[in-house]
Amino acid sequence: MKVISMKHVLPPLPYNATALEPHIDARTMSLHHDMHHAAYVKALNLALESAPELLHGKTAEWLLLNLSEVPEKIRNSVRHNVGGHVNHSLLWQSMSPAGSGAPSGPLAEAIDQAFGSFAKFKAQFEEAGSKLFGSGWVWLVKAQHGNDKLQVLTTFGHDNPLQQGYFPLLVNDVWEHAYYLKHANRRPEYLQGWWSVVNWSEAARRLERFGQGNRTARAGERRCAA
Ligand SMILES: [Fe+2]
Repeated sequence: MKVISMKHVLPPLPYNATALEPHIDARTMSLHHDMHHAAYVKALNLALESAPELLHGKTAEWLLLNLSEVPEKIRNSVRHNVGGHVNHSLLWQSMSPAGSGAPSGPLAEAIDQAFGSFAKFKAQFEEAGSKLFGSGWVWLVKAQHGNDKLQVLTTFGHDNPLQQGYFPLLVNDVWEHAYYLKHANRRPEYLQGWWSVVNWSEAARRLERFGQGNRTARAGERRCAA
């Protein structure tokens, strides 16, 4: 069977580079997407050129979760670049010029239940992002197994919560390239302003998608047990 070779592709920004001004300036947005994210995609495709043909048809998410299947000589490069690709793709979706300012519905209820209030959640998210040493990401996640409450966690480099058993609902990038042109070394200032452009509809959609996935999995278990 011929394996279909699949080049990884830079997704277009879902809005204009100026759309999140003044909170995310256009120059930062253009550099971030057109240079940084593009470089991860290019380097990922380059690394995979020497990989076994079987890996050429795998999605970025599959590679992220199956790094042990990637030859050791390119594993670090694939780990870094596929994480950079997946995380940035999620980041663009996590923001919107039409941000509503606050979650609603089941997501708002889940945030209140987990953190006590929306204000307490924001404070915890900002503190985690501010305190992360070096380059990484701050996330709102749901554990993939069990019925745990929502959590805030951070990952180093370009690691993704899926690799640790958590489903990401919302993400912000705290690498310096995400904010340094506008905010210099004031990462907390960047994190505080970011709430104005959060795409709560997308976070709610991801929570709903997670619930649907769990219901499908449970139905599957029942069918297997029958
Ligand atoms: Fe970034």
